[in-house]
Amino acid sequence: MLHQSLPSTGAVTGLFEAVQFFRDPDFADRRFQRFGDVFETKLIGQRLVFIRGDQAINDLFNQSDSLEGWWPESVRQLLGSRSLANRNGPSHKARRRVVGQLFTSAALRRYSPSIVDMVNQLSAEINTTDTPLPLVDCMRRFAFAVIATTVLGLEGEDRDALFADFEIWTRALFSVPVALPGSPFAKALAARNRLLERLKIVLENADASRGGLDLLAGGLDETGIPLSDEDLVEQLLLLLFAGYETTASSLSCLMRALLIDPQLMPWLTEEVNLIQWPPEMDPVTAYDCSKAPRLNALVSEVMRLTPPVGGFFRRTTRTVTLNGVEIPQDRVIQVALAASNRHGIGDLERFRPERHLDGSFQQSLLPFGGGERVCLGKALAELEIRLMTVGLLKQVQLQLIDDQNVDLQLIPSPSPKDGLLVTSSR
Ligand code: HEM
Repeated sequence: MLHQSLPSTGAVTGLFEAVQFFRDPDFADRRFQRFGDVFETKLIGQRLVFIRGDQAINDLFNQSDSLEGWWPESVRQLLGSRSLANRNGPSHKARRRVVGQLFTSAALRRYSPSIVDMVNQLSAEINTTDTPLPLVDCMRRFAFAVIATTVLGLEGEDRDALFADFEIWTRALFSVPVALPGSPFAKALAARNRLLERLKIVLENADASRGGLDLLAGGLDETGIPLSDEDLVEQLLLLLFAGYETTASSLSCLMRALLIDPQLMPWLTEEVNLIQWPPEMDPVTAYDCSKAPRLNALVSEVMRLTPPVGGFFRRTTRTVTLNGVEIPQDRVIQVALAASNRHGIGDLERFRPERHLDGSFQQSLLPFGGGERVCLGKALAELEIRLMTVGLLKQVQLQLIDDQNVDLQLIPSPSPKDGLLVTSSR
């Protein structure tokens, strides 16, 4: 069978392409239109193959033996070499098995009462505050607290100290990885060391009465040896990184959608009025797609048009063929989720949750990635989003403050520019 050779933008240094990448939200779209669903370009010296569409993405998942995980150098260094995000093969698999114990249905049932408490606290805060509150900050605080309190079992000052260092650390995640004194990257490396120290103490003091860390006890590596504390703390740091910005972004975009479209809030409220808060039976399934189909359609539409992770990476260890295009060994591939989700037939640029109910949307939606590296926290993220949306709508009458910029900033994850200022009219 004949394979097409890899189309290229012809970028030599990749400097101009990098400027465009950060400036132009349609960077990938424009190039897909010109070069097809698989093309190569260069971003500051780094060759990158962009892919979109079900065919190319399915082909990728079907050739996982010829691929490994990949992250930019800054992320790699800040996450650390023990992190499962930077591992491949059996050592990646073994750590996924261990960390996955934090996200089983039984574990989620354990976390649910604390998540419900946090939603109730936030609802009370909005209802009793006279001045406008930035909902984006509330969602960020909530998403961090779910991991720090609910999963790691941290409270009060310990949680605040962790948050302060974590913010320094995240600021440098996508910066140039040169640790010149005083640079964001040097500060982030120092913050990383403090974070690891704090997480080590958290791990040593773990008990079954708080959080879920006891579930990690006895976790084994790929050779059957228990994972060291140094290893486990790097996995915990990864959870903070992977679960915070992403969940906060999806919640902020969901609230934005409800507040800016006058028809959406009544449409969803009709369904929410028929369900119980707090969840009566099993909180994990209380608002799933069979019991809250509109809520699920809304979440899917938010993930489609504003995916928190616009794309994820793989590196080829052997030649692979994607949608008929041959990609040589040692190339980095970016699966362009945001571009894939808008590409196809119909009104795909429009925000229309009903498309997930009336069968008109037939493409695969992969906001959590796929294959052997699919998001480990998917079930927790979905639970948090459902509980927050139902709990807030049940208790608060949100009003958007006029004269603010509700456009989205896209990097690192989509979020309303002016923070989504709201009051409650209750
Ligand atoms: C709406 C929220 C979230 C979105 C959209 C999201 C999305 C993603 C994506 C796209 C990947 C890459 C998958 C791949 O390479 O195929 C990923 C990986 C990962 N996510 Fe999430 N995520 C979210 C929330 C969370 C949460 C709450 C946690 C845990 C607390 C988490 C933990 C992880 C981990 C550990 C990985 C690495 C998996 C691996 O390399 O094997 N994520 N996520």
